[in-house]
Amino acid sequence: MVAPGSWTVLVTGATGRIGFPIARALAGAHHVFGLARCSRQGDEARLRSAGIVPVVGDVADFDPTTVPGLADRPLTHVFHAAARIGPEARTDWQRTFDVNAAATGRLVDACARQSAGALGGFVFCSSGSTYEYQGRRPLVEDDPPGVHLGIYSLSKIAGEAVARFAAAEHGVPLTVIRVFSTYGPLGGAPADRLERILAGKEVVLHPDRPNNYNPVYEDDYVRLGIRALEAATDPPLTVNWSGSETVSAEEYCEYLGELVGRPVRFRFDAAAPWPLWPDVTRMHAVLGRTSVPWREGMRRMVAARHPEVLGAGR
Ligand SMILES: NC(=O)c1ccc[n+]([C@@H]2O[C@H](COP(=O)([O-])OP(=O)(O)OC[C@H]3O[C@@H](n4cnc5c(N)ncnc54)[C@H](OP(=O)(O)O)[C@@H]3O)[C@@H](O)[C@H]2O)c1
Repeated sequence: MVAPGSWTVLVTGATGRIGFPIARALAGAHHVFGLARCSRQGDEARLRSAGIVPVVGDVADFDPTTVPGLADRPLTHVFHAAARIGPEARTDWQRTFDVNAAATGRLVDACARQSAGALGGFVFCSSGSTYEYQGRRPLVEDDPPGVHLGIYSLSKIAGEAVARFAAAEHGVPLTVIRVFSTYGPLGGAPADRLERILAGKEVVLHPDRPNNYNPVYEDDYVRLGIRALEAATDPPLTVNWSGSETVSAEEYCEYLGELVGRPVRFRFDAAAPWPLWPDVTRMHAVLGRTSVPWREGMRRMVAARHPEVLGAGR
């Protein structure tokens, strides 16, 4: 392991819900470069003010040797979170495969060459959406792949295979984290459901109830993300990345409704994505446990995103 303070880290997707708080935490002790297209106003300034060196560009054609400040500084770690997600992933499937899969291979290759053997850990953000549904039991890392969210899931399954191939080619220690439902001040699936509750809209869930999840709050995913960089191995480690606690979407939505004083209306629809419920045995063994209880995390999320309504129901 590299001593604290001596890492040179590239975080891709550095303005995102996962990348930003991880890059910000790392920047307290390390040299951190944050890659994103910076498509929202103020993105570059937000990175700078958190001590992150902004690298404005597309991960699809990223070349670390052209980045000022990286020329004489070998990368020691890469946290690769950039991806085409949501509606963008569905607009052009070839581009989604290029960015989410092929570009991952080019990134491993380019960073391994740039670092000339110094790369001690590469994390690829995969997804719980890569699993085939197993019904009413938690998903284990060796379960088969499946298509939870169409092109996005397929591109992430491909991305994992490409990342493993490229890492093996260069002997790069790799952790593939299968991300399940993050949430916090920057959003996530529970925040999207909160918006629906506040707008008086139905929360749409799968009929196979309860819809179990292990949501992971920002403080915990920052810690587990940095731990995943340290835990990277050759051959690669693949691990579910989530909260330690299981709670159903039904239960946390009822709690959110109580916090903001609004009734919650559910609609159960077979067309809704199936629940993503991870087994956390391996995560606990290699990355550790999470510490923010789900009720506290949900309360903190409401306090950060909608302080005007927190406590309206209590
Ligand atoms: N959050 C979750 O619950 C969850 C669940 C499963 C998997 N994941 C995975 O975790 C990773 C991070 O997700 P997130 O929730 O943080 O997503 P997010 O908030 O949408 O952030 C995505 C980040 O990637 C950047 N980006 C997108 N396309 C890019 C491109 N072509 N080149 C460079 N940067 C690009 C975005 O900035 P610009 O648009 O400005 O470039 C942004 O910084 C993704 O790989 C995602 O598939 C997340």
